[in-house]
Amino acid sequence: MKLTILGGGGFRVPLVYGALLGDRAEGRVTRVVLHDVDAGRLTAVARVLAEQAKDLPDAPEVSFTTDLDDALRGADFIFSAIRVGGLAGRADDERVALAEGVLGQETVGAGGIAYGLRTVPVAVDIAQRVARLAPDAWVINFTNPAGLVTEAMSRHLGDRVIGICDSPVGLGRRIATVLGANPREAWIDYVGLNHLGWVRGLRVAGRDELPRLLADPELLGSFEEGKLFGVEWLQSLGAVPNEYLHYYYFNREAVRAYQQAEKTRGAFLRDQQEQFYAEMKRPDTAALSAWDRTRAEREATYMAENRDAAGAGERDADDLSGGYEKVALALMRAIARDERTTLILNVRNRGTLGVLDTEAVIEVPCLVDANGAHPVAVDPLPDHASGLVCAVKAVEREVLSAAESGSRTTAVKAFALHPLVDSVNVARRLVEGYTSVHPGLAYLK
Ligand code: G6P
Ligand code: MN
Repeated sequence: MKLTILGGGGFRVPLVYGALLGDRAEGRVTRVVLHDVDAGRLTAVARVLAEQAKDLPDAPEVSFTTDLDDALRGADFIFSAIRVGGLAGRADDERVALAEGVLGQETVGAGGIAYGLRTVPVAVDIAQRVARLAPDAWVINFTNPAGLVTEAMSRHLGDRVIGICDSPVGLGRRIATVLGANPREAWIDYVGLNHLGWVRGLRVAGRDELPRLLADPELLGSFEEGKLFGVEWLQSLGAVPNEYLHYYYFNREAVRAYQQAEKTRGAFLRDQQEQFYAEMKRPDTAALSAWDRTRAEREATYMAENRDAAGAGERDADDLSGGYEKVALALMRAIARDERTTLILNVRNRGTLGVLDTEAVIEVPCLVDANGAHPVAVDPLPDHASGLVCAVKAVEREVLSAAESGSRTTAVKAFALHPLVDSVNVARRLVEGYTSVHPGLAYLK
C-alpha cells in the first residue's frame, strides 16, 4: 500500500513514520512517498526517518519528490499536512492580529482566517489534482485550519477527504481517565466544529458518567481543561469544551497573554524549527535525538500562554504525546482493512447538526469502515454553542467564497463577521495588514 505525505519535509512526519513502523499487520503501508516544495526540508526529515528505520529490515520504503503529480499518482492514501507560508507566515498572522488587539492563533479568530485565506487555494488545487490523478485515494487532512480546509477539499473530493485532529481524542482520554474508566471503552458524546466542540457526556457501561465529574470539584479541577477553564465555569456550562474554546471564553486574557509573551507561539516554533533544520545540515548531528529533543520542547510549551493566563501550571506528563499520528493510523487501518472503529473526525454534516446544512464539515464521532467515515446521530447543541458554531461556519463560508472569487470585500466580511473581531474597521485594517505581509494573499483584489 502506498501512502503519500504532502508536507513531507514537515517536522511531525517522523511521528507518522514511527507509527507506521509499529504496524506489523497484513495490508500495512509498504511505500511512503514524501512530497514537499522544499527539497532541503525533505533531506532533513530523511535523515531522521533513516535512523528510525535502522535495523528494521521490513520498514516501509521511503522516497522523496518535489513533483506533486508524481507523488499523487498511484497513492492509496494521501496525508495532507502542509503549511502555506511556513512558520514565518504563522508568526506574521499572530503579529498583525495582536497589533489590532485581536487574536492571531493559527486556527481561531483573525489568525485562523488569514491562514485559511492563504491555504484554501492551495488545498483546492491539491484536491483537484487528486480527483484527476488518484480518484480512488483517500485523503486524510491534517492541514490547519483543519475543518475549513477539509470543507474546501470536500467540494472536489466529497467524502473521500476526512479531516483529523487529536484535541478531542485527548480531551476524551483525559475525562475517561479521571473518571477511572478505560478510554477505549468509553463513548464520548462530542460535537461541534474543529477546535470548537464540547463534550456533553461520557458513557461507560451504558451510563453517563459526566455528571459525576461535573459534581466533583476536586476531580474536575485535576486535568488540563479543568485547570484551563476553572471548575465553576465548567459546572455552569454543564459540558467540557475543547481546549481551543479558551480563546473564546477567556479572550481578553488570552490576547493579553499573547501580547505580553516574549515570543508568540508561531515565532517560537519558527525559531525553534529554523535551528532544527540548520542542525540537520551538519553531517555530525545525531538526527533522531535532535528531532526528539525539539519535539519534547514543542510539546511541553503547547498553549503555554493560555495556561499562564489561567494559572494552570505545567502540562501533565500523559498529555505530552499528542497522538495525532495514532488517529491517522487508526483511520487508515479502519478504511484499508475494514477494521471497524469509532473516531472523532471532520466530515460533512449530512443531517447530524440540524442548524447546519448537509455540506458543512463538522467534528463528530464517526463509525469508520471500508466505506469511509459515517457521522453518528448526536443530540442538538445548546443555543449558546449552536450560535458560535453557526457564526464561525458562516465566517468559514466567507473565506471559501473569498478564496474562490478573489474578492477583498468578501475577505473583509469574513474577518468582520467573526465573533472575536470586534469592529468592521478592525477587519478592514486586518485585510490591509495581512495582504501587505503575505505574498500568498496577492490574489485578493
Ligand atoms: C494540537 C492541535 C493541532 C496542532 C497541534 C500542534 O494537537 O489540535 O491542530 O497542530 O496541537 O500545535 P503547535 O502549537 O505545537 O503547532
Ligand atoms: Mn487540531
